[in-house]
Amino acid sequence: MKTLFSGIQPTGNLHLGNYLGAVKNWVDLQNKYSCIYSVVDLHALTGNITAKELKDNTLSLAIDLLAVGINPKKSILFRQSDVVGHTELAWIFGTLTPIAELNRMTQFKDKSEEQKNNINSGLLTYPVLQAADILLYKAEAVPIGEDQLQHLELTRVIARKFNNKYKTYFPTINPTLSPIPRVMSLNASNKKMSKSLGEPSYITLRDNKATITKKIKKAVADEAGVHNLLDLYYYFGDAKKHSTMKADFEANKLMNSKLKEELTKELIKFLKPIQTKIKHYEAHPKEVEKILANGAKQAQKIADKNLKEIKKLVGLI
Ligand code: TRP
Repeated sequence: MKTLFSGIQPTGNLHLGNYLGAVKNWVDLQNKYSCIYSVVDLHALTGNITAKELKDNTLSLAIDLLAVGINPKKSILFRQSDVVGHTELAWIFGTLTPIAELNRMTQFKDKSEEQKNNINSGLLTYPVLQAADILLYKAEAVPIGEDQLQHLELTRVIARKFNNKYKTYFPTINPTLSPIPRVMSLNASNKKMSKSLGEPSYITLRDNKATITKKIKKAVADEAGVHNLLDLYYYFGDAKKHSTMKADFEANKLMNSKLKEELTKELIKFLKPIQTKIKHYEAHPKEVEKILANGAKQAQKIADKNLKEIKKLVGLI
């Protein structure tokens, strides 16, 4: 089986945008690839995050991932900073990466705008560490949301530069886009669902009934907003009911309150078994730590072997 790698930042709890846009695909790909999934805590350090938040978020994100079906018997799940080699390879890659390429990255520009008082150099070299994450395992498949395409293109450039300078070592990676297009924000139907737009923008896997009901009730119901709610209904609800409501919408007969009620009901139903699992892991954090430690051990084995070969090629050993 080919190797697959993907990562997610521990910046908060998983929301439906993360789930549909990326993580659901991670779960589905577990039978087709040898999967390595990482909670990328070193990447999260580039944002405005306290030590406590970073530590707590890392554990709770690992819990969310386990609860939606990342299976540690099938896949490697680990904390990025537990595996030595990511930062070391990132340094080597940094020496191959033109600054001009990094300056062009839209995520860098967006983040610099979002955190004007903290435009640290880690924010600029972020994609170099991302390339190291992927290539440390010589992963060929990388499931991502479409906002990460530019970073993946840069990963390919870095791999090509390495292969040209030293020896053809890294495979050509292929981004695997989630089959589900972007989920839009509930409070701004022209923007992607995102933590940065605040609580009313998104629904997390941990939201309770009252919160879900309130957020859906308040969701913007302009044309794009209704499309977004219909799409959400499509992913979580009943296909037949979805086509009826869609036809009603096109005929200008759909009651938004009905759509919202139906969607709320389906979301609560979908999240119930997930929340049961979350509760279990929250009550047994040692179990989660053990899963992460075991994942790190497996990842480290691959990383050690590859990094040794890489260092030989570069002339470091
Ligand atoms: N930059 C990615 C994001 O913000 C997270 C990430 C870090 C990642 N390393 C990765 C994704 C490696 C895929 C592969 O979503």
